Amino acid sequence: MDSENKVNNKQILVGHEKFVEMISAEQIRARIVELGKQITEDYKAKLPIFISVLNGSFMFLSDLIKEVDLHCEIDFIKLSSYGDQKISSGKVKTLKELNADISERHVIIVEDIVDTGLSISYLEKLLKEHNPASTKVASLLVKPESLKYDIKVDYVGFEIPNKFVIGYGLDYAQKYRNLSSIYVLSE
Ligand code: IMP
Repeated sequence: MDSENKVNNKQILVGHEKFVEMISAEQIRARIVELGKQITEDYKAKLPIFISVLNGSFMFLSDLIKEVDLHCEIDFIKLSSYGDQKISSGKVKTLKELNADISERHVIIVEDIVDTGLSISYLEKLLKEHNPASTKVASLLVKPESLKYDIKVDYVGFEIPNKFVIGYGLDYAQKYRNLSSIYVLSE
């Protein structure tokens, strides 16, 4: 990242917009340890398959599965929704299909953030066609105020206000995914 974009560790300037740290790397780490323990407990004697929704959830997936003390598998699916904008386009397309056979498997969908719930709702319908034994959802972030679809997030990292965030996998026009904390657009 250009050094002039980073005012200090707590603030990022993106053109005229300022992002401030909302959830630190330490807070994220601590919460993921808790989620990992919960998943380990819930899936004892099972072989779950984590399905990571690209691109945003790659970092969460990577840290989460290290905290899961079970054999598990992973696969990736890529959906489109936001394009390069800060608001959802309202439509979802599959850009990369699953490779694994998930029939009779215990699936845990891994998302970076649930905003309107459109992507999860689309994905749950899609996965159901492959007859998984069960499907649960883990999302690092959830914006409860902007939920519009009838979905349930079983493992929630943090609930956040309806504001645009970047970092820890989340992008703004494909950049800023490599920040280790979550930053929120300041008014
Ligand atoms: P939903 O389908 O409306 O729930 O939106 C989910 C997807 O939108 C996420 O997987 C993200 O890619 C993107 N998204 C939603 N809110 C944000 C945000 O605040 N920052 C970056 N991406 C976001």
